[in-house]
Amino acid sequence: MAIREILSVEHPTLRRKCTKIHHLDPSLQRLVDDMIETMRHANGVGLAAPQVGVPVRLFVVETSEDLDEPHAGELFVLYNPEILKKSDLYYPEEGCLSMPGWVANVPRYKNVLVKGRNRQGKEIRIKAEGLLAQALQHENDHLDGVLFFDHLESPEQLRRAEHVAETVEA
Ligand code: NI
Repeated sequence: MAIREILSVEHPTLRRKCTKIHHLDPSLQRLVDDMIETMRHANGVGLAAPQVGVPVRLFVVETSEDLDEPHAGELFVLYNPEILKKSDLYYPEEGCLSMPGWVANVPRYKNVLVKGRNRQGKEIRIKAEGLLAQALQHENDHLDGVLFFDHLESPEQLRRAEHVAETVEA
């Protein structure tokens, strides 16, 4: 395993529409291991493959086990994800590991149903709420070249995170 460099917002790879994965070969398994290590090292709740320079439809998500919500502390590896259902719009605070130290309140859904394939290639469905749901939407956006601040009406809505350690970055 190795920690990979996280690309910052101006990198063009972060704006690409990522390609679907058809073969789970050993290099992808290595990529997954590295992404998990890189996400944890950066204290993120999620990391998408394009953030480490690989434009494929893959992300990892892991929320804190201290959270009072379903799947708290559970690690998810998801290939070719798809959001099937979403409900209850709200505006939680959010940041991105590709833009450390900045946050904004962005429109997200409190509840989502997401399907995709796990690292063994098996189809899974995740019924998520709260922070996990938010992270799944944030990472899924990354696979389409969308960054969290794209959801804002004005870049002036971005602000410096006062307590970076407590900020949700993904
Ligand atoms: Ni991000």
